[in-house]
Amino acid sequence: MLILAIETSCDDTAVAVVQDGRRVLANVMHSQIAVHRPYGGVLPEVAAREHLHTINPCISAALEKAQLTLPQVDAVAATVGPGLIGSLLVGANVAKTLSLIAEKPFLGVHHLEAHVASNYLESDLAPPFLCLLVSGGHTQLIHVQDYGQHQLLGQTLDDAVGEAYDKVARLMGLPYPGGPELDRLAAQGNANRYSLPTARCQNPWDFSFSGLKTAALRLYETEMARIKPVDADSQKAEQQQMATDLAACFQKAVVDALFEKTCRCATALGCNTVAIAGGVSANRGLRNRFEAHAASHPEFRLAIPPLAYCTDNAAMVGAAAYYHPYTTDWQQDVFSRSA
Ligand code: KG4
Ligand code: ZN
Repeated sequence: MLILAIETSCDDTAVAVVQDGRRVLANVMHSQIAVHRPYGGVLPEVAAREHLHTINPCISAALEKAQLTLPQVDAVAATVGPGLIGSLLVGANVAKTLSLIAEKPFLGVHHLEAHVASNYLESDLAPPFLCLLVSGGHTQLIHVQDYGQHQLLGQTLDDAVGEAYDKVARLMGLPYPGGPELDRLAAQGNANRYSLPTARCQNPWDFSFSGLKTAALRLYETEMARIKPVDADSQKAEQQQMATDLAACFQKAVVDALFEKTCRCATALGCNTVAIAGGVSANRGLRNRFEAHAASHPEFRLAIPPLAYCTDNAAMVGAAAYYHPYTTDWQQDVFSRSA
């Protein structure tokens, strides 16, 4: 089954062609980072207008790459939520229009389900498994019992991990998007220089990152005020070292919380297959931590998508649509938030 898939939930225009939910025949992406960088974050209205400009060229490029024409695809899928409403409307309406023209089903896809399904791409992973979903808007532990059958075990009570990364990075003056920048900085720092708090939650599988985020922000401000000018150059060098070490400490605190809770949850479930998904699964520190554990525990099966399928992309939408085509109604509307 060939699915033409579209993802426009935020600031990336993405179109893919996926065969049988696993094989990626084309994965085209137009990033809006340069457009939003001057504002330090995504401007929803600007994002929607950009999608309007880029969606048709991306569709043509994806079909060309897959060496297919529209009548040859079996279904057209698009993310219908959650996401920025104006951005979602562009991708979903284009997909519905194509499905009507081609007389093929329209498959509306839940964005989080697509992130989970990113682990099926170019892989033989099959449920059941425990999925740690870490993105800019969500942090969840999901028991994937079967294809499209999910049990939410825990989630963040406040900030999502990616959101905490982006906010700390922004205060430290790092360019948008902050998560990857902070990750790069963290790799060079001393992760033992500062001690940062770990949150405890009533539900053992819930997360909380706002306390950690605020502690990191306060520490940064206190340290910036403490570092007195001896001469301009040495002050700058000391500030840079402090920021690098703080990034490493922040990353260690985040990775510790995510890794330890996920492993404890997998043990409690009696599930030895763990998958990671979402934009923050591109984080070097997080990947290294899980990969090191998998290397020393042969019974532990780890699935992490290739970097191209971690952050928002359309291939994962094609995978989710194949495995859970429950919304084959082109009248289905988009939604900005969901439980
Ligand atoms: O899944 P995604 O592309 O979009 C959402 O569905 O939210 O995730 C985007 C989030 C952003 O907060 C971004 O800063 C974060 O993922 N991110 C990272 C890294 N790469 C992307 N956070 C930490 N380290 C990274 N390497
Ligand atoms: Zn996403």
